[in-house]
Amino acid sequence: MESFLKKGFKKHKAVGTDSVNGTKSLARAFAGRLKPGDTVALSGDLGAGKTHFVKGVAAFFGINEKQIVSPTFSLMKTHRGKQMQMIHFDFYRLKGLEELEKTGYRESLSEDKSIVFVEWPEIIKETWDDFTYMIRIEHAGDKRRSITIYKKNASKPGVKTKQAVHKKRGTK
Ligand SMILES: Nc1ncnc2c1ncn2[C@@H]1O[C@H](COP(=O)(O)OP(=O)(O)O)[C@@H](O)[C@H]1O
Ligand SMILES: [Mg+2]
Repeated sequence: MESFLKKGFKKHKAVGTDSVNGTKSLARAFAGRLKPGDTVALSGDLGAGKTHFVKGVAAFFGINEKQIVSPTFSLMKTHRGKQMQMIHFDFYRLKGLEELEKTGYRESLSEDKSIVFVEWPEIIKETWDDFTYMIRIEHAGDKRRSITIYKKNASKPGVKTKQAVHKKRGTK
């Protein structure tokens, strides 16, 4: 998607799936590359499969996927895995950045051993600089979906600082 590219994202991988399990296993494989401090945005229409992608990632981290639902009303939900915590946001009902700040989003970006997931990143485009990955899921007929993974080209200063902190902690 053109606007992602303008925001410093580079197309990393494009794949197709034709089942829910296909989407989940793709997500499970993707989860293997995630590091603490990463932030993953999921873009796509209602019913595209954003939440099912997050379920797949949850399985990788030993979190029961049944616990994963769109936090449309709670806005944020935290799931503790064995080695990693998943912090799951849904921006759908948010009005803007000011409202987002009240949810604890900013703090969650520097939580230890956590990975942040964001459904509906389009709602608050100011957050796009925060994301390490942007997953775009598009309907391609019935159960078919095309999934494109975009990766941030170069780390923004904020992200770099965060990764450096985690690296430092890791070597202690
Ligand atoms: N290939 C597929 N990948 C993911 N979901 C699919 C697929 N095919 C059908 N579905 C259905 O589409 C819906 C996706 O729901 P959900 O993950 O909650 O979407 P979103 O979070 O994007 O609104 C589910 O009802 C699921 O069963
Ligand atoms: Mg959802």
